Amino acid sequence: MINLTLYSNKIGSSLKLKSSEKLFNLLISLRSPWRYYHCVRVGTYASILANYIGMSKKHTRHVRISGLVHDVGFSAINDRILDKQSSLTAEEFTYVKFHPVLGMRILDCYDFPEDIIKAVAQHHESFDGSGYPMGLKGEQISLYGRILFLAEAFDTMTNDTPYRRACTVDAAMKSIKDLSDKSFDPELVHAMLDSEELTNFYMQRDRICRNYARPVLHAEDLFTL
Ligand SMILES: [Fe+2]
Repeated sequence: MINLTLYSNKIGSSLKLKSSEKLFNLLISLRSPWRYYHCVRVGTYASILANYIGMSKKHTRHVRISGLVHDVGFSAINDRILDKQSSLTAEEFTYVKFHPVLGMRILDCYDFPEDIIKAVAQHHESFDGSGYPMGLKGEQISLYGRILFLAEAFDTMTNDTPYRRACTVDAAMKSIKDLSDKSFDPELVHAMLDSEELTNFYMQRDRICRNYARPVLHAEDLFTL
């Protein structure tokens, strides 16, 4: 059984939510260990980047929380679609592409700060305007949103998914570099390629998966990596 109480209290107090119990429910609504840890890793990568480019402590914390909840919209999408092992139909993909909007609506109900809600709504917007749901471009996308998009891409590339095998960190970094100025904000790509802290975190990330296999995982572990 995962001990999420500390985890939810920690975020709850930083956001001054009325009830950390609400956040606890929000996090377990992800229903999937893979999705849960994907969110934890994205939150960590995103906050490392935020810190590296000199964002304040408060903003770095908000970026991390944005990463932790960025895919919460999936909680409103049918498992039949999410767990499908074969390619999605066009209609199913339309539902999946709606998850940033669903996430935005869910977080709005929980009174999350505006910057976090916006980041979640924009975490699939691409720097060249080819993303979704709005097709925003460049600085039309909030800085948080641009950071999340990059952090999520890195995590998805370096982990096995139902559709694709994980690639190495070097291969992921090369793909990200190739997509700089197309999909990703070039300044953030530069920071990512430069950040040793990110590589160091990546080297330890398997500890999270090993911890998950233990009977009890103290959520504090996730914050000390
Ligand atoms: Fe997403």
